[in-house]
Amino acid sequence: MTGKIAGKRRVFSGIQPTGDIHLGNYLGAIKQWVESQELYDNIFCIVNSHAITTRQDPATLRAKSYELGAMLLACGIDMDKSSLFIQSEIDEHAALAWILDCNIPMGDMSRMTQFKDKSSKNPKNINVGLFNYPALMAADILLYQASGVPVGEDQKQHLELTRDVATRFNRDFGECFTIPEPIIPKIGARVMGLDTPESKMSKSAKGENHAIFLLDSPEAIVRKCKKAVTDSQSGIIFDESRAGLYNLLCIYEIFTQQSRAAIEAEFAGKGYGHFKAALAEVLIDSLRPIRENYARLQREGGYIERILQEGADKVRPIAKATYQRAKELVGLV
Ligand code: TYM
Repeated sequence: MTGKIAGKRRVFSGIQPTGDIHLGNYLGAIKQWVESQELYDNIFCIVNSHAITTRQDPATLRAKSYELGAMLLACGIDMDKSSLFIQSEIDEHAALAWILDCNIPMGDMSRMTQFKDKSSKNPKNINVGLFNYPALMAADILLYQASGVPVGEDQKQHLELTRDVATRFNRDFGECFTIPEPIIPKIGARVMGLDTPESKMSKSAKGENHAIFLLDSPEAIVRKCKKAVTDSQSGIIFDESRAGLYNLLCIYEIFTQQSRAAIEAEFAGKGYGHFKAALAEVLIDSLRPIRENYARLQREGGYIERILQEGADKVRPIAKATYQRAKELVGLV
């Protein structure tokens, strides 16, 4: 496989440069990207072409793409171990998406729940790109022959579609794509909104206490933890039927790396107020280095732009090789 690090499994993942990065993005995706960098041959992508499926202000989109680059480095993405680039720098993403579009049945695409969800939230701009979004996502992954895709649970259905189109293409035209598998964390794969524990934490939710953002001030974190919706029962225990508390406890579990039994023992006989204060403290301490790294990177003018350009130059030959093969197999060259 072109450019592959010998003996290492290749992983690919992407993140949209819209809104601010929250705990869901971090725990579902970024944290596992960072922690498994040593293990894999990693390619990470800032998917700005996906972002324009909803209307974006051009100048803001451009700025956000670089800010997200800085955020990912601040979280610990290491350019010696991983490649990081902006999607639109590599034309083959859109080009392969077209070939895949022509090989995805309407019925399969129509089943995508994210499209239904996003179009119901945004009824004034239900565009063809939003419908086709999963084909572009499949192209992202398949271009790089990735065998693993570290994502949160909400991307699982898109991964199934990617696997289906790749399998069908290989069968009908000849071997071209590696069939990828999702890599979904055991805890943190679906972080719920703090104000709406029945729905996942999302960038587009409106409530001011909905999400904890990685750049939130300590005061904002304390306020959001305090206001987080729980229930009228007592006892700080892991019980999935108590959705609000369970969500907070899972967040606490990930950041403290303590066992569930130890956490329940720590808060035995204590109330929500006590637990929420402890959670806020852990979050403030854990997110502080990210905030500090981010502020430092923001001061290093031109650095992020250069890193992202180098990332694109490094992975472009892989994308070109796969696209060329797909083109030949379907008879376009
Ligand atoms: P995006 O930008 O919405 O989210 C980036 C990553 O964060 C995860 N995530 C969550 N995980 C746990 N709990 C949550 N509440 C939560 N919210 C978001 C997402 O699962 C994702 O891993 N379609 C993708 C971007 C994409 C992509 C790709 C991903 C485009 N091409 C190729 C992987 C491979 C998306 O919109 O992610």
